[in-house]
Amino acid sequence: MLAISEYREAFIDYLENKIEVKEPKNLYEPMVYILGLGGKRLRPVLVLMATEIFNKDYKEALDAALAIEIFHNFSLVHDDIMDDAPLRRGKATVHEKWDVNTGILSGDAMLINAYQLFENYEGDTFKELAQLFTKTAIEVCEGQQYDIDFETRDDVSIDDYLKMIEYKTAVLVGASLQMGAIVAGVDEECKKAIYQFGRLLGIAFQLQDDFLDAFGDPKTFGKQVGGDIIENKKTFLYLKSLEVSAEDDARQLEYLYSISPEDNSGKIETVKSIFQKSGAAKLTKEEIEKYTIMAFDVLENISIAEEKKKPLRDFGNMLMKRTV
Ligand code: IPE
Ligand code: IPE
Ligand code: MG
Ligand code: MG
Ligand code: MG
Repeated sequence: MLAISEYREAFIDYLENKIEVKEPKNLYEPMVYILGLGGKRLRPVLVLMATEIFNKDYKEALDAALAIEIFHNFSLVHDDIMDDAPLRRGKATVHEKWDVNTGILSGDAMLINAYQLFENYEGDTFKELAQLFTKTAIEVCEGQQYDIDFETRDDVSIDDYLKMIEYKTAVLVGASLQMGAIVAGVDEECKKAIYQFGRLLGIAFQLQDDFLDAFGDPKTFGKQVGGDIIENKKTFLYLKSLEVSAEDDARQLEYLYSISPEDNSGKIETVKSIFQKSGAAKLTKEEIEKYTIMAFDVLENISIAEEKKKPLRDFGNMLMKRTV
């Protein structure tokens, strides 16, 4: 197997050769722009790693990896419209640099391009990849709808939240790994197990994303810090704070999440201080670790050699330490 960074480099080479601006430029430029802004490339790396873990050459999985990364970037372009986000990977979001209509249609084209890439696979592999992709993509839409619905609901539970992040984020991480397993042609049991590993890691990943949204360093984070607070997102940090804060802090938090002030700086500072002093920030970190360990437990039971499990554990540990 290669190192994680080598899979990333091989993927970026492939992407750069495949993605280009065509006519009409306003459709394709935003696509090249967003895909060129980088990002961590976690999902395509997982596709490639899973392929090799199950003993097939990663090169066979490059189109599936590209499909996943293009889908992910499509979801970000639309997500940034929905979240009214100004920054992505340290640069202007597509709808800010162009406009909302451009973001909608370029995003649509990216989704279709992602689908098209599965046509490069034959027979059963094509069918299985397309089926998994369809199921996953519709779940992501369901998760995104819950995410938006929760902004204006005041009865969201931690279970509701966990279900929402499972759908909007974790299923795609699971599907990335399962796609590698499909390309490698392994049995159903292995496919299900590697998917479960990814799903649990994906939940930890989104919990960490929410943590960084509040506590990331604005100089390096690449997104607007406090964006979730501005949008009244009912994250684990928020829901846990309601559960464990002193009564007046909980009421203040509820009040702050019912308003949308012109200037958000005071709101963000107050909310973050309640997240900290209530202990919710620390409890979120513990929850991230809990889901990562649950993922590792699933990995333990997959019948692959120990030396193939290690890169996946390294990957999970790297995610927990990330600051971007
Ligand atoms: C951001 O995903 C969207 C979420 C599901 C949290 P990433 O953090 O993987 O974004 P990039 O691709 O590295 O920028
Ligand atoms: C995004 O969740 C999930 C999808 C794009 C499907 P977030 O809204 O938390 O992602 P970021 O923080 O904008 O990257
Ligand atoms: Mg967002
Ligand atoms: Mg969002
Ligand atoms: Mg986020």
